[in-house]
Order: sequence, then structure tokens, then C-alpha cells
Amino acid sequence: MKATAKAKAHTNIALIKYWGKRNESLILPTNNSLSVTLDGFYTTTNVSFDEGLTHDTFYLNDEVVEGEQYHRVTQFLDLVRQLAGKPIHAQVRSINAVPTAAGFASSASGFAALAAASSRAIGLDLSDSELSRLTRQGSGSACRSIFGGFAEWEKGEKEDGSDSFAIQIAPKDHWDIRVAAVVLSSKMKKVSSRAGMRRTVETSPFFNGWIESIPSDLEAIKQGIANRDIEQVGAIAEANCLKMHATTLGASPPFTYWLDTTVTVMQTVQQLREQGIPAYFTIDAGPNVKVLYLPEHEQLVQTTLREVPGVTDVKLSRVGQGITYLGDETIV
Ligand code: ADP
Ligand code: DP6
Repeated sequence: MKATAKAKAHTNIALIKYWGKRNESLILPTNNSLSVTLDGFYTTTNVSFDEGLTHDTFYLNDEVVEGEQYHRVTQFLDLVRQLAGKPIHAQVRSINAVPTAAGFASSASGFAALAAASSRAIGLDLSDSELSRLTRQGSGSACRSIFGGFAEWEKGEKEDGSDSFAIQIAPKDHWDIRVAAVVLSSKMKKVSSRAGMRRTVETSPFFNGWIESIPSDLEAIKQGIANRDIEQVGAIAEANCLKMHATTLGASPPFTYWLDTTVTVMQTVQQLREQGIPAYFTIDAGPNVKVLYLPEHEQLVQTTLREVPGVTDVKLSRVGQGITYLGDETIV
């Protein structure tokens, strides 16, 4: 038997960050997080389970992948095989329309597309919540990419992770907010999000303060999204990102994802606000900056960001959709 499925998933950018795990192997977070799915960055993955294969193969952007990236994929496929009760191997072919491991959330679109395509190919019929819960075990932030629009990952309380998955809090069409991804570097980062958050949880004295600040940020941002209030959403997202990055400075050894140009872009965004343009930044585990703004300011925001020395590209994105399936086939 050979069964193939193809799925497309978009990245998401967290407005309230996931930063810290309470269980490393099940990928259970220490806090709820909230994101917007982006239509400009995505992954398309084709998974083909074949009884004739003796091991999994993984191609990323048409190149064979080995080592750590390969192991993350096979370990994830093990979960899918276990859930389906079918010990068959697969060929995975994935194309990232997003830089890999450079702070653009390729892990989010990558694991969401892998989870959707592999679960479908192997014959599992999962609800969105079940798919989100499965996806979480590939990469935490990926569980939010199952949904379009705005999604919240509920951290859950249970030890087994059964109540830890994302839910949609507003659909794609709720609000036409835009996100500019300001590219400063597409190099692989030195400290992965996984390693960075582990070091922070284990060593940063600022970690508890970070966790304590989450519930009020979440409540305020959800209210802002409901009211389509960019000042409220932007101010909370920017402050939440700064708190997350502050925890890394307290870690041992300390580290930061920022470059000097990261700070220049942050200051440029603050200057836009001084001119009356509601623009706000957020930054994930990498040097690149994402800027939130409204459609009517797109031209000005884009031109201003492109003029900042060190900026190599500015990619614009609208709010994106959830998983889409691009066809499947079973040959018995
Ligand atoms: P990013 O900011 O790109 O998410 P991370 O270091 O958090 O950076 O995650 C990158 C990792 O995600 C890669 O090293 C790889 O293991 C995994 N990844 C990225 N794209 C894919 C994909 N299309 N399919 C499977 N795994 C992927
Ligand atoms: C800073 O989801 O990449 O982007 O669960 O270990 O795979 P793992 O980590 P990952 O971490 C994302 C961290 C972040 C914030 C966020 O997306 O919420």
C-alpha cells in the first residue's frame, strides 16, 4: 500500500510569546500564547507512506536532510505511526517559502504542514483540536498554525498534555491587519528557540516575572483584537516581546537574538509612532523584526523600513489561513 497526502501551512507570529516549557518531551508550555497566522510565509509538505520503505527519508527544498533536522521529522512520524497503529515508513518532501531556522517561524509552518499531511496520508481523521495537539509535539508554536486568523495556545494543566492545544479566537476576515517582516539576516541562528527557552527557564532570574505578566497581557490583547484596536494590540505585543527578550539577558550564560540593526529598526518603528503612524514591532528568537500596521499606512511603513541601513528586504503579509489540503492518493 502507498498513501500520499499534501498540505500547506502558514507560519504565525506570536503577539504573546510562548517562552518556556514545563515538559520538554511532550512540549508543554509554561504559559498561554497568542498569534496571528501570516499568509506571506508558508510550507508545503508531501508525505508518502509506503509499505515497501525500510526507513523514512526527508527532503527539504529538494535536498536530502540528515542529522538533527531529520531526527525531528522521524520522531514526529513515530508519533503519527503510533496513533494510527501502522508501522510504515514515509518519504517526506517539503518546500519552505520561508527562510529556515532564521527566526521566521519555519518550524511552525514546517511541523503544521508535516502533521496535516502525515496524519491524513496514514488515514487518521483528526479534528482541528486533535491535529493541533499532535502538531504541538513537533514544535510548540506550530500548534497555532493549524488555524487561520488569530489563535491562542491553551497551555493546559494536565501532565499528559491532552488539554494543551490551540483554538481560534478570531477568523482571518475579522481584521485586515498587516505585518511587515524586516529581514536583517537569513543566517541560521546560533541559539535555537528550543535551546534558548531551556536556558532561560533553567537560569534566568527574570523568568518568574515573565510568567506572572502573561495573564493580564492576554486579557488586554484579546480585548484589543475583539475591538480591532491597533494601539492596544500593538502596545501589548511590543511590551510582551521586550519582556521575553529581557529574560535572555538574565540567563547564564546570557544571550540575545538582537543585532545592532535590530535595535535600529525598533527605534524606527517608535519614530513612526511619534509621527502619528500606529506601527508596532515584535521579534521572535532571531534578529529580524516584524512590524504590525494598518493597510492605509502600508506604503509609508514599507518605504521607511527599507531605508534603514542593514535592512536587506521587507516582506509584507496579510492575515493568513489555516491548513489547506492539496490532494491525496492511495494506491492499494
Ligand atoms: P525558526 O525561526 O525558523 O522556526 P527554529 O530553530 O525554531 O527556527 O526551527 C527551525 C527548525 O524547524 C529546523 O532546524 C528544522 O528542524 C525544523 N523545520 C523547518 N522547516 C521544516 C519543514 N519544512 N519540515 C520539517 N521541519 C522543519
Ligand atoms: C520565540 O515553537 O520554535 O517564536 O516548541 O521547542 O519547537 P519548540 O519551540 P518553538 O518556539 C517558538 C518561540 C518563539 C515564540 C512563539 O512563537 O510563541
